[in-house]
Amino acid sequence: MINLTEFKKTTGFPTVRMRRLRMTETIREMVRETTLQPSDFIYPMFVVPGGKVRHEISSMPNVYQLSVDELVRECGKVYAAGVKSVILFGIPSHKDEYGSEAYDENGVVQQAIRELKKELPDLFIITDVCLCEYTSHGHCGVLRETAPGKAEILNDETLELLAKESLTHVQAGADMVAPSDMMDGRVAVIRSLLDENGFTSTPIMSYAAKYASGFYGPFREAAESTPKFGDRKSHQMDPANVNEAVREVALDIDEGADIVMVKPALAYLDVIYRVKTEFKMPTAAYQVSGEYAMIKAAARNGWLDEPRIMMETLTAIKRAGADLILTYYAVDAAKALKG
Ligand code: PBG
Repeated sequence: MINLTEFKKTTGFPTVRMRRLRMTETIREMVRETTLQPSDFIYPMFVVPGGKVRHEISSMPNVYQLSVDELVRECGKVYAAGVKSVILFGIPSHKDEYGSEAYDENGVVQQAIRELKKELPDLFIITDVCLCEYTSHGHCGVLRETAPGKAEILNDETLELLAKESLTHVQAGADMVAPSDMMDGRVAVIRSLLDENGFTSTPIMSYAAKYASGFYGPFREAAESTPKFGDRKSHQMDPANVNEAVREVALDIDEGADIVMVKPALAYLDVIYRVKTEFKMPTAAYQVSGEYAMIKAAARNGWLDEPRIMMETLTAIKRAGADLILTYYAVDAAKALKG
């Protein structure tokens, strides 16, 4: 039998006993480097027109499209669980080429914000700013046909609409806007319109490094925003690039972003780490629909232990450098942390 202490004496080989600090839960807790808390989480929610609507998204078990009344009720529970912040996505009653309902002061998100602020004034409301849920073609901006069946998203024409959308959200009472469209220059344009209208204290969280990812599949069912043709590769980032992510984030910070986001999370932990170490900005990461669906599906098959994987993935995202995590697990994780 080998005695490690003797072994060290005779061979000079270092035999540090790392296991000493792993022997009990108490000592493990004492030396733990990363801890999660409910205020780390932002809960994404989908709001639809109508009343008493509670429609589960088939590829995202336990995530619902909710009408405003149901959303308000649900948010009461979210807040009670310790999650202080939600991000709202709207599904309009009518889609058109220019996504008009996105910047309609009586749009579904604008109504939802007003109702939530009446009932839950302390809930921190973030809104996703993009056109893809509102356009008939499902693209994130204004289109110009370049050839039959082919179109291009016009960057600068889209900016004005995104800024208008942001302003209507903030006028309705949103606490922060989060542009997710990946058009160039949108943070600057949104910042300046908010400032001109006196909303100088309203922060912007930009989806700064957003990749063209297959992990958004279930979201597009939830938000009914699948592009009718083509894809989002002309504006979302190539998954192969990380130096480019650093440039994207630098630009958004220069334009006035207060919080920068990396999205998706688990397949891009290196990007989160790079962004946090280079800029030391408040950094968010989005554990997206496909990441959630993947865990749910495996758990339903009995292949993974869901509560454990939920905490392990969230801890990994925070350990990589995220201060905030947008996650469909926000409420479940907050409850688990409270014990
Ligand atoms: C765009 C938007 C998307 C997501 C958040 N904002 C979809 C897309 O870019 O196609 C994805 C979120 C998720 O997958 O959970 N409005």
